[in-house]
Amino acid sequence: MDSNNTAAMDYITARLGSPEAPALAFGGDYNPEQWPEETWTEDVRLMREAGVNLVSVGIFSWSLLEPSEGAYEFGWLDRVLDLLHANGIRVDLANATASPPPWFSHKYPQSLPITADGVRHSYGSRQAFAASSPEYRRAAAALTEQIAGRYSDHPAVVMWHVHNEYGCHNQPDFSDGAAAGFRSWLERRYGSLDGLNTAWGTAFWSQRYSAWAEILPPRTSGTWVNPTQQLDFARYSSDELLECYKAEAAIIRSHSPHPVTTNFMGFNMGLHQPVDYWRWAEQMDVVSNDHYLIAEDRRNFQELAATADLTRGWAKGKPWLLMEHSTSAVNWQPRNIAKAPGELLRNSMQHVARGADGALFFQWRASRAGAEKFHSGLLPHTGTDTKVWREVVQLGQALRSLAEVSGSVVTGASGRVDVTIIHDTDARWASELDSHPSVDASNIAETRRWHDAFYRAGIPTDFRQSTDDLSGYRLVVAPMQYLLSDSGAANLDGYVRAGGHLVITYFSGIVDENDHIRLGSYPGAFSGLLGVQMEEFLPLRAGEAVRLSGFGPGTCWNELGKATTAEVLAVVDEGPAAGSPAVTRNHAGSGRAYYVATTLAPEGLSELLTVFCADAAVLPLIPELPANVEIGRRSKDGTDWTFCINHGTDDVRLPLPGAGLTGVELLSGADLNGGLSLAAGAVAVVRSRNSPLMGEPASPSTNHSIHSSH
Ligand code: GAL
Repeated sequence: MDSNNTAAMDYITARLGSPEAPALAFGGDYNPEQWPEETWTEDVRLMREAGVNLVSVGIFSWSLLEPSEGAYEFGWLDRVLDLLHANGIRVDLANATASPPPWFSHKYPQSLPITADGVRHSYGSRQAFAASSPEYRRAAAALTEQIAGRYSDHPAVVMWHVHNEYGCHNQPDFSDGAAAGFRSWLERRYGSLDGLNTAWGTAFWSQRYSAWAEILPPRTSGTWVNPTQQLDFARYSSDELLECYKAEAAIIRSHSPHPVTTNFMGFNMGLHQPVDYWRWAEQMDVVSNDHYLIAEDRRNFQELAATADLTRGWAKGKPWLLMEHSTSAVNWQPRNIAKAPGELLRNSMQHVARGADGALFFQWRASRAGAEKFHSGLLPHTGTDTKVWREVVQLGQALRSLAEVSGSVVTGASGRVDVTIIHDTDARWASELDSHPSVDASNIAETRRWHDAFYRAGIPTDFRQSTDDLSGYRLVVAPMQYLLSDSGAANLDGYVRAGGHLVITYFSGIVDENDHIRLGSYPGAFSGLLGVQMEEFLPLRAGEAVRLSGFGPGTCWNELGKATTAEVLAVVDEGPAAGSPAVTRNHAGSGRAYYVATTLAPEGLSELLTVFCADAAVLPLIPELPANVEIGRRSKDGTDWTFCINHGTDDVRLPLPGAGLTGVELLSGADLNGGLSLAAGAVAVVRSRNSPLMGEPASPSTNHSIHSSH
């Protein structure tokens, strides 16, 4: 299988259905080892009832598959896979390396990870290993060899699940093994100590290194450890862990043609849990992601949407797989709010609308024992006469009705996604380093604000890196790209000069890839392109806002400075930055570059978006999208599927003409020849050919109402 994600998802959906009629994936983690064998028959019966077609098996089974070193017991797994196969349920088979057994950690205590404070993790939870441990790598390779060798031809297996959520609990590791690995990584990166000393700016605070052996991971010290050292350690830690994945994936690929993946964790991998998914994604046959709602956030569906779009970015726009989400509550948040009626369907449909070719869950049967016994499952503790089970069955039906969507790509009003947000891992990590101008200046928060604004406007957005080819996008937004490599800066500059529209927010292009300030006017990499010269950052107090002459108010930050060639769209109206530009527009080459020097509230941001979109000829999928309604579109071979999801408590009517809202509503099978009324909480997916052009008069016709199932 190619590591390019092109055909791999199709490979799977063809095996879940048939090559002529592929099926979307539906199912989840199946942990039969937690239950007596008699239960398995009921499991598969109920899986069939719900329409489950894919389960992930064996993720946490190492201690049962290898009860003592080199002694393997596969009998139970043979029986499980045979049973699933006999019932037509396909398997995403794990290589079980995510949780080393007690015998392993007990025998090889040096394999356990060490925190920045020098505390060695104990075992007794999961992921108790250091990525650099040769003992762990040897044991994981041996187990992978056994599993891949034994099951590569098993007819139930269609894909491989390496490990589980790499780095979730053991990243980064500050052990001596990591120190040695870090030094080798640095030698490869810099070639010489002089190179390292320059890159790390070690003239500051007397940090000059005179031998490689002196270099350590950024362990706890009296105060801030050298920022470039921290950044390089994050880069190294991601690479070291990726070596574990690559080694295990290579073993599997030597036995089997099925696609290989490991499940990602969305936005969660910050500087202190570093895994650079852009680099990891290159090693995946299929990009897969786990997503859990932030239960207490009443607009958590917007965070879901952003994560799903980011996942599609890692998949380079191709279909991807939602490996885990939850049917209802999780167990690991302070207050684990259960999903409201209909939320399960809405959440799954959001992922599908944004490019997932299926919806899988953690986990099939809610556990009876262990740390996750209060986590929901497809099959609750309380059985099948339950809200959750009924909604699971309903989702299975919905996914079957939408099977034709598989293999399609996400599109915008022009027939392709017109807007992308830049999200470089290095920029995020570096922005999370300590001793910055304001703790409130957050790359993730700013990224989310911009994504939310496009979401509310009904404009689909991709995510890309600053170094990617951006020429297909009408509008590119780079929110708080604090760190930018020279090549990223040159790429963005070239994009504008060739006719693109680029929005840069404050605290972008400030440092190079070594976290050294780009000297001259702020924002360093972009002052010329933007036609502004900013001289001082003026972060605001917590809760403080400044009046702007337009799009205001501004919070978090403003800047002292002036426009050189830029047209000023709004200035700061009060305080020490009074008269300084807050929003500007500059012509450069045949394109335009915009600067936003503060954080705008949602209303101001939405207003400003209309300016950018008018300049860049970006249209929403539907004009005047009602509040709390989400819209998305997928397309393939001249057919569009428009997803309309009502997260609100009011029934709405979607205005026409719009994005293909004539055709067949696939969840109900109803013909739509005109408007669409969507009840509170309801979901509609409309298939149409050749969606009507925006502004075309609506044909007189019947309306159809989509009722919420509740
Ligand atoms: C994921 C993990 C699963 C399960 C789930 C609970 O992070 O992959 O194994 O723990 O969270 O929400």
